[in-house]
Amino acid sequence: MGKRTNFGFQKRQKDIEKQKKKAAKAEKKKLRADGIELEGDLGERLDALCEAGADIFDRFDNDFRQNDFHAFVAADYPVVLATLVELRAPGRRFLEWGSATGIITIMADLLGFEAYGIEIDGSLVEQARELADRHASRARFTKGSFLPTGYRWKQPGGDERLGTISTGESGYLQLGMPLEEFDVVFGYPWPGEEAMMLDLMRVHGRANATLLIHTPTGMKVYRGGELAA
Ligand SMILES: C[S@@+](CC[C@H](N)C(=O)[O-])C[C@H]1O[C@@H](n2cnc3c(N)ncnc32)[C@H](O)[C@@H]1O
Repeated sequence: MGKRTNFGFQKRQKDIEKQKKKAAKAEKKKLRADGIELEGDLGERLDALCEAGADIFDRFDNDFRQNDFHAFVAADYPVVLATLVELRAPGRRFLEWGSATGIITIMADLLGFEAYGIEIDGSLVEQARELADRHASRARFTKGSFLPTGYRWKQPGGDERLGTISTGESGYLQLGMPLEEFDVVFGYPWPGEEAMMLDLMRVHGRANATLLIHTPTGMKVYRGGELAA
């Protein structure tokens, strides 16, 4: 007698596996806001924003980054959120260097910062503006470079290469505000680019401003060029 195969059972098992995978993905995306006190419906709004951001990046990664290099890699949004919650205060001015789809700048706006993003890729700026509208955010986005006009990066050995950071017309002109007017600045550098961000802040930032550097292992908080506890 030939081997009997229970196709109904196998299909059910597959469906269960699919559901499990879907639930695990949803759980991963869910904002882990444990211990973070957020007023009204802010937690839900931020959850929805982080979820939208993760979906957009997944699509961008599948459709674009599989074929071509692009410097846009999304930060770990819940990790950034936890840091921004600690730093928020009415009227604080926030700037995101390389704001891509705008999730972090919108997050900062929803948390009460006066929030701006500068991004060199015009199509990402468009997406960020649409996303801000959809999430009832007043975050503002400018197409341009976060490098101020005239800024030159030189490593101690004389190397001037900027890695994945593109050059172009400075975004501060359009913003109408120089870097030194921002209280909190956020950057997600590629490996080897953090030193340039620190130098940029030292040369053009305000001495008592906070520089947030996102890394694959978490957030670094700098004040006056020194790593804060
Ligand atoms: C690593 S991604 C970070 C994206 C986003 N900040 C986040 O954390 O999810 C770096 C972004 O910087 C942008 N970028 C590169 N050079 C830039 C420049 N000179 N000025 C503004 N944006 C730049 C890239 O297009 C990309 O979207």
